Amino acid sequence: MIDLRSDTKTKPSQAMREAMANADVGDEQDREDPTVLELERRGAELLGHDEAVYLPTATMGNQIALLILGERATEVVVEDTAHIVVSELGGAAAHAGLQVHGVRGDRGRISSEQIRETMHEDGSFHTPRTSVVALENTHNNAGGTVWPLDELREVTATARELGLKLHLDGARLMNAAIASNVAAAELGSLFDTVTLCLSKGLGCPLGALIAGSSELMHRARMEKHRMGGAMRQAGIVAAAGVYALDHNVERLAEDHARARRLGDAWAEQGLPVDLERVQTNFVHLEASALGLGEWEAVGLVRDAGVAISRTMRPGFLRAVTHLDLTDDDIDRAAELVPQALGAYVDA
Ligand SMILES: Cc1ncc(COP(=O)(O)O)c(C=O)c1O
Repeated sequence: MIDLRSDTKTKPSQAMREAMANADVGDEQDREDPTVLELERRGAELLGHDEAVYLPTATMGNQIALLILGERATEVVVEDTAHIVVSELGGAAAHAGLQVHGVRGDRGRISSEQIRETMHEDGSFHTPRTSVVALENTHNNAGGTVWPLDELREVTATARELGLKLHLDGARLMNAAIASNVAAAELGSLFDTVTLCLSKGLGCPLGALIAGSSELMHRARMEKHRMGGAMRQAGIVAAAGVYALDHNVERLAEDHARARRLGDAWAEQGLPVDLERVQTNFVHLEASALGLGEWEAVGLVRDAGVAISRTMRPGFLRAVTHLDLTDDDIDRAAELVPQALGAYVDA
C-alpha cells in the first residue's frame, strides 16, 4: 500500500533511531536533560523567539498558547476550518475558557478587514471581548496552503494595532518556510507564540515545540506541567527532533516537488485536482466532481493500492507526500489513482 494519507504516518529512520539510542539524557522536568535543552535552544532560534519549550504534541502547544495568551470568557478569532477549531476537541473552551469565533477563510487565510469586523471591544454586557487571533501556516484543511509574507505581516500588524495577542499554529511551519523561501524565524517572530510539530514532515515519532518570549515560555512551562506534559528522560525522543532539524528540513522541498508531480500527473489524466492549492506537500482531489462520495472514492483508490484520506473540505480528498515515500511510489500512485477513478471522469 502506498500510504499518502498523512505526513504523520512516517516512521523514524534508522539514522534517527541511532541518534535516539545514543542521546545524552537527564531529568527533563528539572531541566537537566541536555538533549531537550539543545532542542529547545535550536527551536527558539529557528522560530525567532527568546525561548522554546519541548512538548509531546502540537495540540498541547496550541492549547498552552491559548491559555497563556487568552483571558477567560473572551474570544479567540480563528479561520473556521483551522485545526484549533475542528480538531482539538473544544480545547480552547475547556482549557483556556475561550469562545472560538470562526471566520470563513480564503485558502486558510483571513484578512485584516475580517479581523476588524469580527473584533469586539470591551464594554458590552452581551458580547465577549476579543483577546487573541490564531492563524495557521501551512493551513492543513485548506490543502497545505501558504501565507504570503506580506499578507501575514499586514494581518498581524492589524491584530497588534487592535491590541490583540497573536498565536501561530505552525505545525507545518517548516513546509511554509521552504515553500515561500522565507526563514521560519521571520514568520514566527510576527507572533507572540508559535508552535512547530516535529512528527509530521520532519519525521519524528513525536514531539513539538512552542516558542515565545522568556516570560511567556515560563508560563508555558507551568501549563505544560499542569497538563501532565513535563517528562523525565525525554532526550531519547528529543534527539529525534535535533536529528530532524539537521537532516529533514531542506528535504521538504522534495516532498513539495513530488506533490506537484503527482497533482500534475493526475490532472493530465483528467482527474479534478485543485492545482492552485498544491503549494506544499498536499494534493486536493475533488471526489464530488466525479460524482463520488468521499468514502466511496477513498475505497476505490485503496482497492488499487493507494491510501488517501478525507478532508474537512466537503467533497475533497487529500494525498500527502512525506519522507517515507520514494520516487517510484509517486510514479505508481500517478498511474494507479487515475486507473481506479478513470471510469468516473466525465461520467
Ligand atoms: C495544523 C495542525 N496543527 C496542529 C496539529 C496537531 O498536532 P499533534 O498531532 O502533534 O497534536 C496538527 C495535526 O495534524 C495540524 O495539522
